[in-house]
Amino acid sequence: MNTLDSFRLDHTRALITGASRGIGRAVALAFAQAGAQLALSARSEQALKATAEQVAALGASAVLVPGDLAVPDEPGWVVDEAARLLGGLDVVVHNAGILPSLPDGTPLLTPLQLLPQQAWDEVLAVNLNATAALCRHAHRHLATSAASAASAASGEARGTTRDTASLVLMSSLAGVIGTPMMEAYAASKAAQISLARSLAVGWARQGIRVNALCPGWTRTDMTAFAHTNGPLSDWLLAHVPLGRWADPEEVAAAALFLASPAAGYLTGQALLLDGGVSVPDGGLSGIPKPPSPFGPA
Ligand SMILES: NC(=O)c1ccc[n+]([C@@H]2O[C@H](COP(=O)([O-])OP(=O)(O)OC[C@H]3O[C@@H](n4cnc5c(N)ncnc54)[C@H](OP(=O)(O)O)[C@@H]3O)[C@@H](O)[C@H]2O)c1
Repeated sequence: MNTLDSFRLDHTRALITGASRGIGRAVALAFAQAGAQLALSARSEQALKATAEQVAALGASAVLVPGDLAVPDEPGWVVDEAARLLGGLDVVVHNAGILPSLPDGTPLLTPLQLLPQQAWDEVLAVNLNATAALCRHAHRHLATSAASAASAASGEARGTTRDTASLVLMSSLAGVIGTPMMEAYAASKAAQISLARSLAVGWARQGIRVNALCPGWTRTDMTAFAHTNGPLSDWLLAHVPLGRWADPEEVAAAALFLASPAAGYLTGQALLLDGGVSVPDGGLSGIPKPPSPFGPA
């Protein structure tokens, strides 16, 4: 396969959760450009329709599978309905996720000792329990896809083709580094990385690759509390060697790589896309670090 062609997703049926805005919408548009047939999920059907219109403008098609992943039976329904509408699933990008928040939607950034149990439960319900349920239901469809790809690759034994099914879990830098005041979120994101590793090993011989993608600070609604607050944004960026926010399109490009045959030999990895935050510099970079606007932890 031509190297550039290996980044394409022609004839690939892909479910993307959290596709109504932010990173998920950017993933949908990148996959549309790469030729995928899409199923888009999130709670807001109206916003999903807007994403689908942008997908259509790129010459691709999308079906909508609205659902609230915090409701116990919804992740399974979303996966099975997406597979029904697309005639199967070759790729799943599970991207929907939340920070703890107040009833008005404002992020609740507070140390664990002050975080109400209900806020912990809400975050874990979406970021971890729904992830597990979604993976559990996706397995059957991805295994079917991989088996038919292997039998179509005449003469090749299963596991020798690059044409694997792929599951990408949208984790976070927060799942890798210490993240005070976001402990529930960070723990849920670390669990997604662990799940990706375990599933990658367990499902490898079934032709299913599983990876976690771990973005750093990315400019979306989720991080508006920070990128619209000059002093807070400046302080955060002082800890980012590349010195800027990531754009959702940059995260989408990495998701496309992980989902595509270009990453055919890559499984069980947590890909850090963080502008260098996770690289210890021992203070040698010389980048000045202003005092925390939150004060000492
Ligand atoms: N932005 C960052 O800096 C950053 C960094 C690292 C990792 N991430 C991860 O990247 C993913 C996307 O983040 P983002 O920044 O694009 O966030 P965002 O702009 O807040 O978008 C979140 C997406 O998840 C959906 N969603 C939220 N709760 C849901 C639920 N209960 N059921 C179904 N869908 C739900 C939202 O759609 P509806 O509201 O319509 O349901 C929306 O499409 C998340 O998993 C996040 O943890 C983000």
